[in-house]
Amino acid sequence: MRRKVIAGNWKMNMLPNEAIALIEGLAPKVKNTKNDVIICVPFTDLFYSLLSVQGTNIKVGAQNMHFEESGAYTGEVSGKMLQSINVEYVIIGHSERRQYFAETDETVNKKVKAALKYNLKPIICVGETLEQREEGKAVDVITTQTRLALEGLKPEEMETITIAYEPIWAIGTGKTATSEDANNSIKAIREEVRKLYGDKIADEIIILYGGSVNSSNAKELFETSDIDGGLVGGASLKADEFAKIVNYDE
Ligand code: PGA
Repeated sequence: MRRKVIAGNWKMNMLPNEAIALIEGLAPKVKNTKNDVIICVPFTDLFYSLLSVQGTNIKVGAQNMHFEESGAYTGEVSGKMLQSINVEYVIIGHSERRQYFAETDETVNKKVKAALKYNLKPIICVGETLEQREEGKAVDVITTQTRLALEGLKPEEMETITIAYEPIWAIGTGKTATSEDANNSIKAIREEVRKLYGDKIADEIIILYGGSVNSSNAKELFETSDIDGGLVGGASLKADEFAKIVNYDE
C-alpha cells in the first residue's frame, strides 16, 4: 500500500511571521496523522520554517531551484544551497514556472538530476492546458512530460521521486478535475512509469493530484485507486483548512 502525501504549495505568499504562525497552528492538528505532511515555502521562509517544524511531523520543501551548483546566475538558488540548510523536498516544473519563467521539459530534467545529486526529493509537476485537453491530447502531454522529466534517471533514483499531476485549467480556478478523470490521468502517468521502470517502481511511486484541492473534495479524490494525495495551493495557506485536508481520512 502506498502512503498518502499531502503537500502544501504556498507559492509567493506568507512572510516569515505568518509562516511561523501557520506552522504553530498546523502542527498540533496534524500530529497524529499517518499521512506525510509537507509544506513548500518561499525561499525567504525556508529557514524559519525549518526551525519551526523541529519536533513535528511536518517536512519542508522549496518551490524551485537552479540546476547549476553555483555561479553567475543572479537571483537563483541552487540545490546545494537548499541542501546546506537541510531542505528535504523541492517542487520542480510547476506549471506556473513553465508558463511564466520559460521552464521546459529539458530544464525540468536538469533540475531533477541536480536535486537528486544534492539529496533533495523532487516533486515533479506535469499537467495539460485546457486547450490540450479539449483537443484530446491530455494523456499524450502528461505522459510525454513525465518521460522527459525522468530521462536518464536510474531505477534506484526513482525511490525519492514524487510526481504531481496538476491540470493547468484546475489550478487556482476553483475547478477540480472529477475524481474519476484525475484518477485516470494519474493511472496514465503510472503506466508511463511502468513502461520505463517496471512494475515495482510504478506500483510504489507516489503520484499526487493538484488543482483546487480543498477540505470538501480531498476525501473523494484521495480515496481513488491511484491518487496518492495532493499538492495543495490556496487551501494550504490556512492551518485549519490544510489540517482538514491532511486529516481527510479521519
Ligand atoms: P491550487 O494550486 O490548489 O490553488 O489550485 C495548486 C498548485 O498550483 O500547486
